Amino acid sequence: MNDLPGTRALHGDEVSREGAVVAPIFQATTFAAASNKEFLDAATRSFSDEFYTRYGNPNHTQVAEVMSALEGAERAIVTASGMGAISTMALSLLSQGDHVVIQRTTYPGTTNLVTNLLYRFGISSSYVDQIDPKSLEEVIRPETRLVLLETPSNPLLGVTDIEAFADVAHRNGSLVAVDNTVATPINQRPIELGADLVWHSATKYLGGHSDVSAGVIAGPSQLVEQIWRTHLAIGSVLGPIDAWLLLRGIRTLDVRMDRHNSNAMALAEALEQHPEIVEVFYPGLSTHPQHDLAKAQMTGFGGLLSFTATGGAKRADHLLDALRLTTRAPSLGSVHSLATRPAAMWSDQRQYQSQVDDGVDEGLIRLSVGIEAQEDLLKDFAQALDATSLA
Ligand SMILES: Cc1ncc(COP(=O)(O)O)c(C=O)c1O
Repeated sequence: MNDLPGTRALHGDEVSREGAVVAPIFQATTFAAASNKEFLDAATRSFSDEFYTRYGNPNHTQVAEVMSALEGAERAIVTASGMGAISTMALSLLSQGDHVVIQRTTYPGTTNLVTNLLYRFGISSSYVDQIDPKSLEEVIRPETRLVLLETPSNPLLGVTDIEAFADVAHRNGSLVAVDNTVATPINQRPIELGADLVWHSATKYLGGHSDVSAGVIAGPSQLVEQIWRTHLAIGSVLGPIDAWLLLRGIRTLDVRMDRHNSNAMALAEALEQHPEIVEVFYPGLSTHPQHDLAKAQMTGFGGLLSFTATGGAKRADHLLDALRLTTRAPSLGSVHSLATRPAAMWSDQRQYQSQVDDGVDEGLIRLSVGIEAQEDLLKDFAQALDATSLA
């Protein structure tokens, strides 16, 4: 299929049910079989979606079809959250004695899963520096089964060279899975760049409206089938209504990302010019240390940026109070602009220390730029910076 992503988001599913342009919500946990033969077939078929909803549901199938079309994958499944996706994937692919590699800067939930939970089951891990593919050569071992990448990474927007990391991983017999939450398949398609698997917190841009928690795993049929079998045991099941809402969100992903991309770019440029802004992290800026790499592997730079202003954490909190159009909330990828000070979310000392070591300042503000009118957003930031000025 040669359609562009915007078209795939609308036509990537071939499921046409009951003649309705929009499929109904199959709010059912169980499906009737007309005969014993049909029952046995539904009970044993891979990706069975008319048997028992933990196995699958027509609403799951439809949204998964659109996601595989968008990611250029053979197959996808949906889960109840992004953490449901990564946990199911990791527990399916890893066994006792295996080794997994994660980025030093990655979503803390992923670090927690690997270092606190998988560790208890005899799965060891090492960190890599996302800006240096050679750091993978230093830590990879014969028993490394999985390399987990995230790009751009949250909250400092570092960019990982997917092709270069995949090359090292594959030469050493390891699989590569990429968290594509922040970029979305509109801006970046990791499978085309050599990754084996992609996962998402679909809670973010894919759903897009802060009203659904969901996850996606996409990749080759054989691997996704193996992961689906583990999914039956883990049970991170997306409710049919949430699958329907997720699909509704994905239908407009392309136009939303267009606005997220241009609003974030305009705001990053304006902030960079402001005399009371110390640093802006956004891969679309020519001053970003990996801007060339971002340009090579992304078609847009996304809606997430972070920055520090003069005055540290105290000023940052005042700035968040003074913003009229940006809500203080711990998520990203919404149509509404959302911001947090990541340091305020640090729940334990270890997490705090590792983030500080990676350059996350106490006063850093992470901003998920929404799709509000650009002029209004720019005006709002200008007034909030003026109102909290230390000059
Ligand atoms: C980059 C990234 N990956 C994964 C997750 C986890 O997703 P969820 O909250 O849907 O479980 C998040 C959540 O913030 C995230 O930002």
